[in-house]
Amino acid sequence: MEIRPARPDEFAALGQLTLEAYRTVGPQSAAYEAELVDVAHRAEHATVLVAADDDGTPLGCVTLVLPGPNVLSEHREPEAASIRMLGVAPGARGRGIGEALTLAAMEEARAVGATAMVLHSATDMAAAHRLYRRLGFVRDEALDWVPEPDVELLGFRLAL
Ligand SMILES: CC(C)(COP(=O)(O)OP(=O)(O)OC[C@H]1O[C@@H](n2cnc3c(N)ncnc32)[C@H](O)[C@@H]1OP(=O)(O)O)[C@@H](O)C(=O)NCCC(=O)NCCS
Repeated sequence: MEIRPARPDEFAALGQLTLEAYRTVGPQSAAYEAELVDVAHRAEHATVLVAADDDGTPLGCVTLVLPGPNVLSEHREPEAASIRMLGVAPGARGRGIGEALTLAAMEEARAVGATAMVLHSATDMAAAHRLYRRLGFVRDEALDWVPEPDVELLGFRLAL
C-alpha cells in the first residue's frame, strides 16, 4: 500500500469511496452527500491523500486542511491543521489503512509547522473514535459543534 496525493483522474472514484464509507455509519443528508463526493473541491483547497493498493486501487482517503483561512476549515485556530472526510472502503477495513492515512496527514501537518491537529467526528463513528484515541487524540468539548439540527459533532484534538 502507498499513501500519496490523489490524482485528478481518481477524484470521482474517491468521492464514491468516501460516500460509501460514510453510508456504513448511517444515512447522510443529501447536502452532505454532495459534499462527500466532491473531491475536486477538496483538492482545490487542501491535500487529499489516498491510500492505494499495490495495483493502484484506492482503498481510502482523507483530506488534510493546513493552518490558515480555508473554505474547508471548521475551526478558528491559526496554527492548527485539521483532517476531514476520512473514509476507508468497507472491504478494506481493519488493516490499518485509516490509521496510516491519519498518521500521514499528521506528518505533513507537522512538516509545515502546525502545532495541533483538530477534527470533528459524528457521535456514531465509533471505529473512528477508537482510531483517533489510539493515535493520541483527546476529546475537546470546546470544539463540539452542531452544524444543523440532529447533527452533533464531537471535537478531537492532538498536539503535534
Ligand atoms: C474509521 C475508518 C476510517 C477506520 O478505517 P480502518 O482502515 O478500518 O482503520 P484501522 O484499521 O486503522 O482501525 C479501525 C478500527 O476499527 C476496527 N474495524 C473496523 N471495521 C472493521 C472490519 N470490517 N474488520 C475488522 N476490524 C474493523 C479495527 O479493528 C480497528 O479497531 P481498534 O481501533 O479497536 O483496533 C473506517 O471505519 C471508516 O471509513 N468509517 C466510516 C467513515 C468514518 O467514520 N470516518 C471518520 C470521519 S471523522
